[in-house]
Amino acid sequence: MKILFIGDVVGSPGRDMVKEYVPKLRNKYKPDVTIVNGENAAGGKGITEKIYQGFLEAGAQVITLGNHSWDNREIFDFIDDAKYLIRPANFPEGNPGKGIVYVPFGSKEIAIINLQGRAFLPPIDCPFLKADELVKEAKKRTPYIFVDFHGEATSEKQAIGWYLDGRVSAVVGTHTHVQTNDNRILPDGTAYITDVGMTGPYDGILGMDREVVLKRFLTALPVRFEVSKGRTQLNGVIIELDKKDGKAKSINPIIINDDHIFFE
Ligand SMILES: [Fe+2]
Repeated sequence: MKILFIGDVVGSPGRDMVKEYVPKLRNKYKPDVTIVNGENAAGGKGITEKIYQGFLEAGAQVITLGNHSWDNREIFDFIDDAKYLIRPANFPEGNPGKGIVYVPFGSKEIAIINLQGRAFLPPIDCPFLKADELVKEAKKRTPYIFVDFHGEATSEKQAIGWYLDGRVSAVVGTHTHVQTNDNRILPDGTAYITDVGMTGPYDGILGMDREVVLKRFLTALPVRFEVSKGRTQLNGVIIELDKKDGKAKSINPIIINDDHIFFE
């Protein structure tokens, strides 16, 4: 059983990469489920219904979000009808949408959970306690459980990985936009990576125009961030699970850019 996960898609350069490469990656790896983090997909902030539909058309089954979930206000009009769009489950009571979804594959199903960290991010509900609750719920239905943990601090991401080791199939980190090379299988069978990296501009700073970011660093003046133009990249992971118990067998990085050429 294989899961393809594509890291944070930034703006139209990221969407173009998804459109071009997700079909090729699906053809190459034959994943049972494909997941895309789309929280930066609309101009770097949030997501629209058209973009959500575009990801599904490109071959994704589930779209996850993060701290920019509500930045494009159009989301409030469609999230309740978007079955396969999930936002961090530990957003406080009263937030629209949901943080878990079940996706069928063959005669089975996999639970996809989205959570968000609290270190250097807004104070929301505890992701650890929310994970306990959702994992308990998901276990009643399936041994295959995937977690996108959207977090800033490496320590908090490692902590949730260890906390869930043996209880879920995979914990992948998102949000910091640079792929870490610590992909591994934890001792009790959970695939883990601190950050999957981003999909979009290759020559910006975390996907944003580098001149603008540099101006901010050099002058400390307020600036308006814009999605960078030019060369593009895609970062993801391909995870293989044991079909009988949902434990991870492998987690391998996917890197596509001018320095890492894609082979079909
Ligand atoms: Fe984020």
